[in-house]
Amino acid sequence: MMFLTVSTLWVWPAVLVAACILPLVLHLYDPYGIRKYPGPFLAKFSYAWIFWVGISGRRSQIIHEAHDKYGAVIRISPREVSFSSPSVYSEIHSFSSKATKSNFYDTFGSIGVRNVFTSRSKADHVQRRKLLHPLFTAQVTREFTPRTVSLVEQLLNEWESRFVDGKYFDCVPWIVWLAFDSIGDFIFGTSLGMLNSRSDSVPFVRKSDEKTISLPGIISMREQYNYPVGLLPVWWRPLARRIVSKEIEAARTYHAFVAHRVEQRLSRNAGLQSEDVYDLVGRFLKKSKAQNEAFHPDALTSELNTILVAGTDTTRNSLIAAIYYLARSPDAQRTLQAELDSSPTQDISALPFLNACLNETLRLYSPVGIGLPRTVPHPGMLIAGEWFVGGTTVGVPIYTVHRDENIWGARTEEFEPRRWLSEDGRELRMDADALKTFSDGSMRCIGKHLALAQLRVMIAAIFKRFDVILENPEAPLHTEEWFVRKAIECKIGVRRRGV
Ligand code: HEM
Repeated sequence: MMFLTVSTLWVWPAVLVAACILPLVLHLYDPYGIRKYPGPFLAKFSYAWIFWVGISGRRSQIIHEAHDKYGAVIRISPREVSFSSPSVYSEIHSFSSKATKSNFYDTFGSIGVRNVFTSRSKADHVQRRKLLHPLFTAQVTREFTPRTVSLVEQLLNEWESRFVDGKYFDCVPWIVWLAFDSIGDFIFGTSLGMLNSRSDSVPFVRKSDEKTISLPGIISMREQYNYPVGLLPVWWRPLARRIVSKEIEAARTYHAFVAHRVEQRLSRNAGLQSEDVYDLVGRFLKKSKAQNEAFHPDALTSELNTILVAGTDTTRNSLIAAIYYLARSPDAQRTLQAELDSSPTQDISALPFLNACLNETLRLYSPVGIGLPRTVPHPGMLIAGEWFVGGTTVGVPIYTVHRDENIWGARTEEFEPRRWLSEDGRELRMDADALKTFSDGSMRCIGKHLALAQLRVMIAAIFKRFDVILENPEAPLHTEEWFVRKAIECKIGVRRRGV
């Protein structure tokens, strides 16, 4: 017994010493050859710094400030390098780039099944994109637009009946309901009913037990598991999973919710009747059948797991940001309204000032602002003229690229739609490709057309009908960042315009 106690006494100090010495040894051994790059002190030896930054809710700003302090190429973990140059973004994310998604994406998987977002093998990713691409074309988006118009009308009628008497209200939950209803309609052919119930709770059956769940609530909780755990090295993850068991349960519930909706949708009919083919599931089934591909509900559920989140979190936060910036900039709001009033056509896709406001929102707000982590392939890769060995993680923060004065000119922290326009304001002067909001290359956002079309329709409808003001124009837009930057609250007042 005595012997056992003594041996236990030896073990823990040994573990502690090893935990302190090993990072130092690894730092000196420098397996990735990145010791020469400057960066925060703690980031040289451990993942604690990037983990702390990740859960601070301000990752993009903190890394941006670190670039200001240490330079254009900085080390942000023992294995990861961050670059601030927009040209490096193009190198890493070009179609010809050999860099792959890092193991950060492993934790985002739908229980046990990979999807287009989490796929890390180039060949597997190409296959998935091929299958999904036809479901997101500009034509599909155009066909869906009337349904977005109808949902946004429902939202505005509600605002008109409740708030036009000068009451300030928080627009965040309303925009959340709109975004979920719209994407629910796009995917399953029926809205999720949040605007009708004015609540984010949705019915959910699991093992014949019927209850309601807050869909945005469980999605946020799921992100609070997969995002921070993804920042840790793989050997720490099993331990971390024990700590975040509540969040893992949320991920399971979310998966079960999507699987249940897929089942319901499939049982409605085989998805091949013409009136149902406008939704994503119907189109997916039709395409699988036309190509004689085997249809796997689990594979579809796994894709939808990502698409439902990717299509709501980003779009809704962009819309809230657009409302906030325009409400804070009366001149820009008036110019936009004048353009909308004088536009004779239903097609708003080419309105210069509307597009300038949208681009400027996506630049300044950057719903996804982090450096998307990519792994350098073996044996290595030249980036910005320097050799990086295989296995190194690299990224270029979108937030920082969107504040590069060489591209955007001065006052990059200001909302200035005019920076996008020619002198006479009649056309877009700047190339929207400079925006990295939707990323670039083979892993760029698949929902870009849909998001842009929805945002144009929503912004135009809101500002055509109302003058919008902020309750507190001096207050910044409060955000919290995980993988996506989320607006926490945005209190506005609306007044019916006399047009
Ligand atoms: C303003 C709205 C949106 C923004 C800012 C946005 C941004 C992005 C970004 C930056 C990526 C790359 C992520 C990475 O490589 O880690 C991405 C990927 C993706 N997005 Fe979006 N997105 C938006 C809307 C949408 C919509 C509406 C959908 C679908 C309904 C969607 C579906 C996806 C999917 C499936 C991927 C993974 C693509 C792949 O890896 O091949 N997104 N998005």
